[in-house]
Amino acid sequence: MKLITALVFAAITTLPAQAADRAADTNFVLKCVGCHLTDGSGLPSAGIPDFVDQVGVFAALPEGRAYLLHVPGVIGSSLSDAEIADVLNYVMDTWAGPSLPEHYTPFTPAEVAELKAQNVGNAVKYRRLVVERLKLLGLDAADYPWP
Ligand code: HEC
Repeated sequence: MKLITALVFAAITTLPAQAADRAADTNFVLKCVGCHLTDGSGLPSAGIPDFVDQVGVFAALPEGRAYLLHVPGVIGSSLSDAEIADVLNYVMDTWAGPSLPEHYTPFTPAEVAELKAQNVGNAVKYRRLVVERLKLLGLDAADYPWP
């Protein structure tokens, strides 16, 4: 009986960690794949940027990090701050490749809450501003067909 209790307890206490591991890729499939596709390549001709070896540049600048929180798919995702942090870290880990900045710090729920609260205005316009600042650092973002 004691053993069973111990096993049940162990199962319950290890659950949240496993659930958190699953959440980011599951949430990506549920909330993001429809536009960004399973390989992160998006559909640039339709305005959905390619993540592969490019999306990491945004993590280099505070403005870039704020931009990521305000793309429509993220801000409108109805995910919690912790889930958003996880799914953005998943995007970075999976697709940023060499575009990830040298001193990259992963997103935390607290940073997500803070950046979400910022008013960046129109995300398309804001991306242009971020891209100009990245250029000054010698960094290029993915092609973007929006006018
Ligand atoms: C309905 C389609 C759609 C869905 C769903 C969607 N996105 Fe996006 N995403 C876009 C578009 C379009 C852009 C271009 C940004 C803009 O115009 O604001 C973008 C931009 C991005 C970018 C920045 C890439 C860049 O180069 O500008 C990231 C990161 C991102 N999305 C992550 C996500 C994540 C994570 C999810 C799921 C939680 C998600 N998106 C869901 C359409 C979508």
